Amino acid sequence: MRHTRCVTTTIDQDHPAGVAITTDLWRTAVVYQIYPRSFADSNGDGTGDLPGITSRMPYLRSLGVDAIWLSPFYPSALADGGYDVDDHRDVDPRLGTLDDFDAMVTALHAADIKVIIDIVPNHTSNRHPWFEQALAAGRGSLERDRYLFRDGLGGEQPPNDWESLFGGSAWAPAGDGQWYFHCFAAEQPDLNWENEAVREDFRRTVRFWADRGVDGFRIDVAHGLRKDLSEPYPPWGEIADVIRPDGSHPLWDRDDVHEIYADWRRIFDSYDPPRFAVGEASVHPTRRARYASAESLGQAFNFAMQDADWRPEDYRQVINGGLADMIDFASTTSWLLGCHDTPRVATRYGLPLDDDRPAQQVARDWLLADGTTPQLDTSRGERRARAAIMILLALPGSTYIYQGDELGLQEVADLPREVLEDPMARRSTKEKGRDGCRVPLPWSAEGPSYGFGQQIAHLPQPEWFAAYAVSVQEADPDSTLNLYRGALALRPELFPGDDFRWIESESSVLHFARPGGVRCITNFGAEPVALPAGEVLLSSAQLDHGRLPGDSTVWLRVP
Ligand code: NOJ
Repeated sequence: MRHTRCVTTTIDQDHPAGVAITTDLWRTAVVYQIYPRSFADSNGDGTGDLPGITSRMPYLRSLGVDAIWLSPFYPSALADGGYDVDDHRDVDPRLGTLDDFDAMVTALHAADIKVIIDIVPNHTSNRHPWFEQALAAGRGSLERDRYLFRDGLGGEQPPNDWESLFGGSAWAPAGDGQWYFHCFAAEQPDLNWENEAVREDFRRTVRFWADRGVDGFRIDVAHGLRKDLSEPYPPWGEIADVIRPDGSHPLWDRDDVHEIYADWRRIFDSYDPPRFAVGEASVHPTRRARYASAESLGQAFNFAMQDADWRPEDYRQVINGGLADMIDFASTTSWLLGCHDTPRVATRYGLPLDDDRPAQQVARDWLLADGTTPQLDTSRGERRARAAIMILLALPGSTYIYQGDELGLQEVADLPREVLEDPMARRSTKEKGRDGCRVPLPWSAEGPSYGFGQQIAHLPQPEWFAAYAVSVQEADPDSTLNLYRGALALRPELFPGDDFRWIESESSVLHFARPGGVRCITNFGAEPVALPAGEVLLSSAQLDHGRLPGDSTVWLRVP
C-alpha cells in the first residue's frame, strides 16, 4: 500500500493562531442553508417565513446539523431573491418580525444549532432610503457619494461598456446625465466602500445582529467591495474575465478589501465567543485563503466541489486543493455540493458527462431547454449525489448542505417563463436563472403545496415533488433523508481531527483513510469493486455480495 498524499499534522498543532479565530466547532461544522422564502410557510401566504423555520425545529434537530445559514430575510422588493436589501437591520414583514427572529434564534439555540445570517454589503436595494436620497440630492452630493455615480458619455451612453453579472450594462441612468454602477441587477446599486458612512453603517449592522445572538455571518460577494472606478476605464473585453491571480482586476478581489474584514474582525472578536464569518468569494484558488485567514473572515467557501464533475480525478484535485488551504494558510476549509445559485447536485450528476463543458454548464444549458435535452437520469443523479455527500462528510473541514439536497431533490426545469423570479432570467438570453433550485420544499405528499404551507407556493411545485416529500422519506429507511441523518449522526465520532491520507486504488476509485482505521471508498465506475476486509459503517447503496457497486460510497472500519 502506498500513500499518494499524506496529511498527518493538525492545524491546531501547526497554527495555534488560526484556532483562536475559528474554533473547533466551526472548523468541522455541518451547516444547513435555509432559503427562507422556500423552506416553510406558517401563514399560508405562499412564502416561507421565520415562524415556519421555528415550526420545523424537530426536523432540523433530527437532521443533526450544527448550524443553519439563513439567506436574506430583510425587507426587499425581491428583485434578486432578497439580495436586494431595503433595510439591513429589519425583517421583511412577509417573513415575520424582529420578535419572530428572536424566537427563532432562541429555538435554534435550545436545539443546540448555531445561526449564521447573510450580510449583503456590496449593494443595497434601489428602495433603500440612502439610494432614494442619492437620486434626489443630485450630482456631487454627499448622498450620491455613498454609491458609485459617474457622468455618462451623453444621451443614452453610459460611462463605459462594462457589463453586469446578470447580463446587460452595469450602469443604469439616474435621469440627470449621471449613471450608477451595479454589478448585479439595476435594483441593486453598488455601495462606495471608500465612504466612511458606508463603513460605519455596516459596523452597526454586524453589531446589531451579533447583539441579537447571531453566531456568525455569511458575507455576500465578499470579494467585490473595493473597486477602482478611476479613468481611463479599461474596455470590458479586457476585464470580462473576472478571475485573476494577482488582485489587479478593477472590480473583484482587490487586496484592500481585507482592510474591511480586519475592521470587522475586531468586532467579531469583541464577542464571547467570537462571531464566526464565512466569505462568498469567487476568486482564483490561490487567493481564497486570504479570505479564510485569521485576520480576515476566518473561512471562505470552496466552490470547487460544486464545480467538479462526477469524476475521481476532479474530486481528488478539489480535495487536495482544499486540504492544502487548511495546512498552508492555517484556515479551515469548507465543502459544498450546491446552494441557491447552482443547479441541484442530483440533476448535475444525472445529466451526461461532457468533455467540453463542466457539469454546471451542461445543467444550465439543459435548463434553458426547459429540461428537454439532453435526457436526465434522475435515479443515477440521486445515486451519485448520495455517494458525493458521503465523501464530503468524511473529509476534514466544514460542510454546507443546501436545503432539499438532503431529500435528493432535482432541479425544476420546466417552470413557465412567466413565473420566474430570478432577474438573471430576465436580463440574460443565455440563462433560465436560479429558480429551479429555489422551489419550496415538499414536506408531505399531499396538500396544495405539499405541506410547505396551507396554500400554493410562490413558485409552482411539480407533481413529482410528492415522491420526495419529507414524510415519504421518513417512512423509508433507505431514503436519501435517512442516509443524511445516518451520516450526520456518525460523523462526529468517525471523523475527528484533520488527519487524512490517500490510499492508492484503481483509477475509478477514490479511497482515503481517516483516524481510527476509518476509510471512505467511492466507486465512480460502472462495475462493482472489491472492498478491504472491515466493518461496514454506512453505505450510500446496497453492497453487491460484499462489493461496492458503481456510483456509491462506503464508510468502513478496517482492522
Ligand atoms: C451572491 C448570492 O448568493 C446571489 O444569490 C446574489 O444574486 C448575489 N450574490 C448578489 O447579491
